[in-house]
Amino acid sequence: MPVVSVLSLKGGVGKTSVTLGLAGAAAAQNLRCVVVDLDPQGNATTVLAPDGVEFTANDVLTGDRPVTVGDALAVSGWGESVRVLAGEPALERRNHPPDGIPGRHHVRSALSGLRDADIVLIDCPPSLAELTRNALAASDTALIVTEPTAFALAGAQQALGAVDAVRSAHNLRLRPAGIVVNRFRSGTAEHRYRLDELLAAYRDLVIDPVLPERSAITRAQGAGVPIQRWPSPGAREVGRIFAGYLTLLLSSAGAGAGPFSKGAR
Ligand SMILES: Nc1ncnc2c1ncn2[C@@H]1O[C@H](COP(=O)(O)OP(=O)(O)O)[C@@H](O)[C@H]1O
Ligand SMILES: [Mg+2]
Repeated sequence: MPVVSVLSLKGGVGKTSVTLGLAGAAAAQNLRCVVVDLDPQGNATTVLAPDGVEFTANDVLTGDRPVTVGDALAVSGWGESVRVLAGEPALERRNHPPDGIPGRHHVRSALSGLRDADIVLIDCPPSLAELTRNALAASDTALIVTEPTAFALAGAQQALGAVDAVRSAHNLRLRPAGIVVNRFRSGTAEHRYRLDELLAAYRDLVIDPVLPERSAITRAQGAGVPIQRWPSPGAREVGRIFAGYLTLLLSSAGAGAGPFSKGAR
């Protein structure tokens, strides 16, 4: 049961979209997927619209209340195969522990009771602060999301630095799964330039293919359905790409998507 953290240095780059795309890909293959929404904004929770949420990720992370992940998991509006540990604004406090002492293993302990899933996806908050580090301490792999802009390289560098730091201090099995370059517009010279910059630094980590900008992603989210069920050519294209990413995450030998160094480019 691979546990995958989806993270980035900042917000708005596509962490939630990638998490949801992967969850939809898992559901399309009848795999059991758990989405852990650690973002206080709870965007993944909103789109997945889980039924009858009694407890959230925040409750499970509160050590003094006996709420287990089993108590808190709710079936998503996408069907039985996708379950959700909901996010809520109260998670924000956990990014800045009041006593200043980080507890790096809260998420790992919380997820230790989880058995019946084929993949666990953790949608991280939009920073590399405490909750993201907690997620990394609980993960097998880290999927970094970035846009092909001027800050992409620095952002990827910092995210990989956080992965390294958590690996050496807390979780030796953690490794980067790769870098998703999101909202790529192939006709844009700036995007091509930034992609080349990323490739020059991290050829083995940048995932091929990149994720193109497609309005279907936003539309499907607005309608609360998986991109795999959205009827448009753009949605089908992106659906195929997420299927490849999922294969990559489920097997290190992943076919269909992989590092640029192994692809045709
Ligand atoms: N490849 C894409 N093409 C078009 N819109 C996208 C794409 N990826 C993300 N978006 C949109 O951009 C916004 C921010 O994405 P989101 O996944 O919420 O980012 P994050 O979780 O990193 O804050 C959302 O409205 C989302 O629908
Ligand atoms: Mg998000």
